[in-house]
Amino acid sequence: MFQLTRSVTWQALKRLHEQTADDRIRDYFTADPQRFEKMSLRVGGLFLDYSKHAISGAVLDKLLELADHSALVQRRAQMFSGDIINVTEDRPVLHTALRNQGEGPLMVDGQDVMPEIQRTREQIRAFSEAVRSGEWKGYSGERIKDVVNIGIGGSDLGPNMASRALLKYRHPELNFHFVSNVDGAHIQKVLKRLDPATTLFIVSTKTFSTQETLLNAKTARRWFLDNAGEDADVGAHFIAASTNRQAAMEFGIREENVFEFWAWVGGRYSMWSSIGLPIALSIGFDGFMEMLEGAYEMDQHFLTAPFRENMPVLMALIGIWYINFVGAETQAIVPYDQALHQLPSFLQQLDMESNGKSVDIFGHPVDYKTGPIVWGQTGSNGQHAFFQLLHQGTRYVPIDFIASLKPEPGVEDHHFALLTNMLAQANAFMEGSQSGSRLDPYSCPGNRPSSVLLLDELTPKNLGALIALYEHKVFVQGVIWNINSFDQWGVQLGKRIAGEISERIDEHSQDFDASTQGLLALVRGHFREEGLGHGGAAAEPAATASAGGGRAGKRGRKG
Ligand code: F6P
Repeated sequence: MFQLTRSVTWQALKRLHEQTADDRIRDYFTADPQRFEKMSLRVGGLFLDYSKHAISGAVLDKLLELADHSALVQRRAQMFSGDIINVTEDRPVLHTALRNQGEGPLMVDGQDVMPEIQRTREQIRAFSEAVRSGEWKGYSGERIKDVVNIGIGGSDLGPNMASRALLKYRHPELNFHFVSNVDGAHIQKVLKRLDPATTLFIVSTKTFSTQETLLNAKTARRWFLDNAGEDADVGAHFIAASTNRQAAMEFGIREENVFEFWAWVGGRYSMWSSIGLPIALSIGFDGFMEMLEGAYEMDQHFLTAPFRENMPVLMALIGIWYINFVGAETQAIVPYDQALHQLPSFLQQLDMESNGKSVDIFGHPVDYKTGPIVWGQTGSNGQHAFFQLLHQGTRYVPIDFIASLKPEPGVEDHHFALLTNMLAQANAFMEGSQSGSRLDPYSCPGNRPSSVLLLDELTPKNLGALIALYEHKVFVQGVIWNINSFDQWGVQLGKRIAGEISERIDEHSQDFDASTQGLLALVRGHFREEGLGHGGAAAEPAATASAGGGRAGKRGRKG
């Protein structure tokens, strides 16, 4: 059986690491004055500079050989054509179909999925236009002013990140809120500021069975009923993005307001589906389509560009070099753009839920490291927080710097400072401080690698391309590691045990470990002392006053 770590290419890369471990990145530039030109590329509105990496020409050649010898070409074709590549869940992986702009059919299980994708796109268009124009009325006849997305994980992070990134395109009369945490303080804080008569809730949940989302959705519905409308009015204020039409309708959502998507869309890859409704509502359907187009262009690039000029493939290989040969444990994502402040969290789920695996697609344990710990926050702020460790600490952390070239009008001077700071940091990480010896506490060792990704401008199209770029980077790494990037059994385990614990809290069950039993006894005791019902996972949550009250109080029906 093929063993990745025994392959000739893997062994050669190990040797290359030994041979180049003491190289200085800056010396690569001296040796090759064309290095920047050679190790940078543009795809549409995205420019990647990957020249400041601890990667010599020979290393890059070998990494490309690793990609050549992997199943990448085959697996990529399988993904795009709807073959079952999510083997443990027995599903195709077709988020690329959601942004497909091609004319032809896309067959899954003998059925062309493009017509239903088009139908849902049309449904999103009609609905988002109705809400944005004010044609869609709440129960009292008023237009919608606030949109609350209730979802978690992939049903929150994508639309949340993108809506914030594209805030400057937002409809001026619509405000957006995202509730994800089952901590009641989250929804309370949001509801407190809202008027139920002008609020629209989107219950975003692929399965319509996620405990956190259902509790939040029920609390929102109770708040709505206690402060405003009646059961029959729920339909004007609650819509759903879900694959589970039946459960959404049982919740009180009108059939025509369940925005469907499909089992073959993974949660963390779902912002291109009706999970992206908040984006369409915020920036308009045309903007949403532009985002899809940007992703589609990246898909086409990923499908057709030779590996040496293929942005996602190159980024994946750079990551593999650091994870598998240099021994880096983490990958920092540092956007020098306040609008992208949620990007690190989004990419954290995308990468860590996808490639946080330790068995291959045949179920055999792997003998190499897989997905890194992905973390980060906006530059500028990060500079004054964790950059110290990156400059002088003992860890080796590759960094992705991300920024857009075009400033906001009126703050060009800020933008100039932002970009120059980012470039200064990338330079300082590589160069270090030239001054004293290694014993000098003032000296920075340098030789720390980074990529710089520049967007011409933070537009819907470029954001779409950026997200698709990272999706494919994660995919390529998963293929080389021969793991399934599209399941998440660890998360499912947590979900199952949470359900069991809340259902059996009164049983004094011996099934749990002594620590869990002891802690449960404390929780049980506290709830009893306080006279609180806990009710388990299926409980109707406490009603309105505690859920925020709302600005308006209960009002009569208008119109
Ligand atoms: O976090 C695990 C996960 O299964 C994600 O993949 C998904 O995005 C999230 O839970 C929420 O699930 P759902 O959309 O079904 O509520």
